[in-house]
Amino acid sequence: MPIKIAPSVLASDFANIQSEIEMLNASEADYIHVDIMDGVFVPNISFGIPVTEAINKHAKKPLDVHLMIIDPDRYLEAFKKAGAGIISVHLEACNHLHRTLQAIKELGCKAGVALNPHTSIHLLEDVIMDIDLVCLMSVNPGFGGQKFIENTYHKVRQLKSLITEKGANTMIEIDGGVNQINAPLLQEAGADVLVAGSFVFSAENPLETIRSLKNI
Ligand code: DX5
Ligand code: ZN
Repeated sequence: MPIKIAPSVLASDFANIQSEIEMLNASEADYIHVDIMDGVFVPNISFGIPVTEAINKHAKKPLDVHLMIIDPDRYLEAFKKAGAGIISVHLEACNHLHRTLQAIKELGCKAGVALNPHTSIHLLEDVIMDIDLVCLMSVNPGFGGQKFIENTYHKVRQLKSLITEKGANTMIEIDGGVNQINAPLLQEAGADVLVAGSFVFSAENPLETIRSLKNI
C-alpha cells in the first residue's frame, strides 16, 4: 500500500487559501490536514470553524481535522458540518475517550486519537478496536516547522504491533517535522499516513514535493 500524504494547511498562505487548496486538489495528496488550536490545550491559536468551511468549499479531498482543543465534544458536530471526514481528538484532552469516539462515528466521520510525544501507546490498549486512525505527534503540538522527535520510530513500531496483535483496522498517522529523510524510515516502521506542513508549503515546488513523499 503506498503511503498516504496529508499536507497541513497550517503552513499554507491563508490569504490565498483557494489557490492553495486547488494546488492540493491537483496533487497526489490523499487528505487535507486541518490543524485547530485553541490557545489553551496548545500555546497557539490557529483558526476555527469558518475557515474550515472555507477550505471545504474548495477541497476535493477529505478533510483530516486535528483538534488541539480542550473538551472537544462540544465542537464535534460543528466540525462535521464544516466538512470533516476524519476528526482526531487528543487523548490528553478527553475525560471519556471511548464516548467521544462513538460520538464522532455517529456523526459519520472516521474517529482519530492524537497522542502527544510523552503519551504512552499502552493507553490505547483498551480502545484500539474503536479507533480508525492514531495520530502520533512527532513534535509537541502547537506550531509548524518544529524538529522531528526521534523516539517516534519506537512508538510507531509499538503501535503497529498493538494493532496487529489485536487485529484492529487502525491507520497510523505521523504529525510534525516530516521530511524526505524521516519519511522512508517512518514508512518502514509501519506508518500509513504522513502529515507534512512546512516541508510541502515552503518547498519551491509543493506539487513535486508531495509526489516525492508519496513515492518514497
Ligand atoms: C502541529 C500540527 C502539525 C503541523 C505540522 O501542532 O499538528 O500538523 O502543522 O507542521 P510541520 O510539518 O511543519 O511540522
Ligand atoms: Zn496536526
